[in-house]
Amino acid sequence: MPSATVRVRVPAKINLHLGVGDLRDDGYHELVTIFQAVSLYDELSLTPADELSVVTRGAPGVPEGAANLAGRAVLLLAEHAGRHPGVRVEISKQIPVAGGMAGGSADAAAALLGCAHLWHLDLPRSTLVALAAELGSDVPFALTGGTAIGTGRGEQIAPVLTRHQWHWVLAIAGDGLSTPAVFGELDRLREQSPGPRVGPVEDVLAALARPDAAALGEALGNDMQAAAISLQPSLRRVLYAGTAEGALHCLVSGSGPTVAMLCADADHAADVAARVAGLGVCRTVRVVNGPVPGARVLGA
Ligand code: C5P
Repeated sequence: MPSATVRVRVPAKINLHLGVGDLRDDGYHELVTIFQAVSLYDELSLTPADELSVVTRGAPGVPEGAANLAGRAVLLLAEHAGRHPGVRVEISKQIPVAGGMAGGSADAAAALLGCAHLWHLDLPRSTLVALAAELGSDVPFALTGGTAIGTGRGEQIAPVLTRHQWHWVLAIAGDGLSTPAVFGELDRLREQSPGPRVGPVEDVLAALARPDAAALGEALGNDMQAAAISLQPSLRRVLYAGTAEGALHCLVSGSGPTVAMLCADADHAADVAARVAGLGVCRTVRVVNGPVPGARVLGA
């Protein structure tokens, strides 16, 4: 008998550019961002069960059941497809929780894809993406992966062609940051003084087209970085450590507190990772590359 369990692997994202516009009437900020999916993955297994349950391994404190965004994804797809949401979801987490790497969004994207597979739903990709956008701004990108430009509140995705692999060190902090809190802090800081904004997104797009990591480093930028540092001042030390230990450029990923350090190649990344790890400025470091594909059913 073949196993009824479906397993899905889904990557984390970093933001190579994050331009934050004004607060909209719906409580979201208008964004222009460039996402890149990187080789740090959560894995979900979905098994038919009498009722919905969501359990997480490797991340104490993550909500269970329907309070988890992956649980909400199961309920949303069940409602859409007229199915009973009886699924046991087990999440093995590698993506840091509240780390600015869209881990919860990744799990939701994986749950959507996994349930569609489990229930043999032949849904058009556009339907899955629309359901993903209902769940959260970063969920459509987690389905798509690769490198993409996101607009609107981040949920409108268009692929960006880049023929190169980029090498990153991720410095992962012990404490997470709440995304709404960092957006709120950015609004507060901007009320006090407008502050500088990231450069044109076109600079990043142009840099991505060439195999020149130094040029990409110069183009990277994140409007949320100052707000993340304001809420977690120890990030300054992490950013400084990455630069001092030879990374081409360091920036806070998304709303933080993960810091992404761009390196020239895989060997350089391993070297920077070892040096930064030795300084004890963050909980853990990981060497990753990107772009990688979005959520995928394993063994399908
Ligand atoms: O879309 P998602 O649920 O992931 O967003 C979480 C929170 O982050 C929102 O409730 C909002 O406070 C903030 N946010 C924002 N502007 C965006 C995306 C998210 O202000 N473009």
